[in-house]
Amino acid sequence: MGAFEQQVGAIPALEGNNAPVANELTIDRLEVLGELPSNLNGLYVRNGPNPFYPPDWRYHAYDGDGMLHAVRFDRGVASYRNRWVRTAALTEEQAAGRALWKGIKEPQRADRPDQPLKNTSNTDVKYHAGRLITMWYRSGMPYAVDPLTLETIGPADCDGALDRISAHSRPDERTGELLWFDYDVKPPYMRYGVIGPDRKSRHAIEVPLPGPRLPHDMAVTEHYTILHDFPLLLDEEARRLGRYKLRFHPEMPTRFAVVPRYGQASEIRWFEARPTYLLHVVNAWEEGDEVVMVGTPYRIYDDEQGRPDARRLERTIHHRQRDFWLYQWRFDLKTGRTTEGPIDDTLNSEFPAINMAWQGRRTRHSYHAVFPYGGREEVRFTGVAKVNHETGAFVHLSEGPGAFYNEPAFAPRDGSSAEDDGYVVTISWNPLEQRSEVLVFDARDGEFGRGPLCRVKLPQRVPNGFHATFVSQATMQRWGGPSPADRTRIDAKESRP
Ligand SMILES: [Fe+2]
Repeated sequence: MGAFEQQVGAIPALEGNNAPVANELTIDRLEVLGELPSNLNGLYVRNGPNPFYPPDWRYHAYDGDGMLHAVRFDRGVASYRNRWVRTAALTEEQAAGRALWKGIKEPQRADRPDQPLKNTSNTDVKYHAGRLITMWYRSGMPYAVDPLTLETIGPADCDGALDRISAHSRPDERTGELLWFDYDVKPPYMRYGVIGPDRKSRHAIEVPLPGPRLPHDMAVTEHYTILHDFPLLLDEEARRLGRYKLRFHPEMPTRFAVVPRYGQASEIRWFEARPTYLLHVVNAWEEGDEVVMVGTPYRIYDDEQGRPDARRLERTIHHRQRDFWLYQWRFDLKTGRTTEGPIDDTLNSEFPAINMAWQGRRTRHSYHAVFPYGGREEVRFTGVAKVNHETGAFVHLSEGPGAFYNEPAFAPRDGSSAEDDGYVVTISWNPLEQRSEVLVFDARDGEFGRGPLCRVKLPQRVPNGFHATFVSQATMQRWGGPSPADRTRIDAKESRP
């Protein structure tokens, strides 16, 4: 047991597979059990918290410095790298030789108005204009990372256009744009914008909100962007006392802003819907006069008076319990009305993924992490599922309660055109072999349920984390990223003494 484990062993959020790893590895050829398809080419990369310094504060599972774990698939060969995201704050700490920030359970740094809470950039990772972009759920400066080496290039400020964006800003693979939003406790409470494939700003507006909100994601169709205003608010009295407390207001509606991609604030159409809270969008698209959005919101229960049970939702969120359903909203641009309802209320799943080439177009399939209906315990992703939204069918795989998975990503087969013609990739913990491994499934109907096509052994444990993405080699190169030949050059450079 290393010094780190001795120091942090008593912190539940750092026990078991929440414990960080200390090494940054580069492994060129991983052992494969089964056959790795040669028409699977690209990068699966996952972000997550991995504290660089042993915390001496009340550690929360969201506090750790961002670390990327990346598996590259290249014509039947898989390789692996993991690297910390060298944020400004981590660089400052490394220069000092110690942690200079604490976490979300502790008071923020009054002496650092620029960064009262550490921007760890630990939440999501996406690909835009030749680079990986890491992002933070509280909104912060995004970081650019080299997709070949996983080395941090620096702040992805796009010529000063970005100073803070939310974790779930979204690239559009068809246009090469990055659609972003941010949110803040002080005005402007939300901003929205578009960065071009040239990394320059194309559009930015302030989104008028009546006060601070806690949106987590956004949705993108071919012509519209959908921004979120949920009646889950910070408790202002608690905030004045320096505490973080959430209040759900079932008397307030949910509101969705439907705005043309390059629309002004005056062009926003607001749609009201039932009070709820949503973390992640599955997809959105246009259908006639309607804009349709599908997501995995928290399931809302009625209380004994038949009203939304606000306290139950607050407790669920506070204890980070998982209780989600698959849900659809339809916004009628002609009438201004919303119709909504669950698509499926039997599978408790979240962290949805789709074939990102189909973002903004009508999709039938999504891939999810599946959760146990647990009590007060650390989050576990105990399964993966493929869901067919039209038939209501799903296939759920779990290798038992000891196994756990990560956010799956859809990896298109080279040259594919059908929505589910490709693979599902995830990193899993194999409790029998006591190792982390990459699982590759055939995503097509009738194939996914057969289980993984292959298991790729990873050289070290991959701790539990947050979001993952898959970038195909074709998408990588289409938007300015490196080719396999560039990879050969990098390897030659790195192997020089
Ligand atoms: Fe998220």
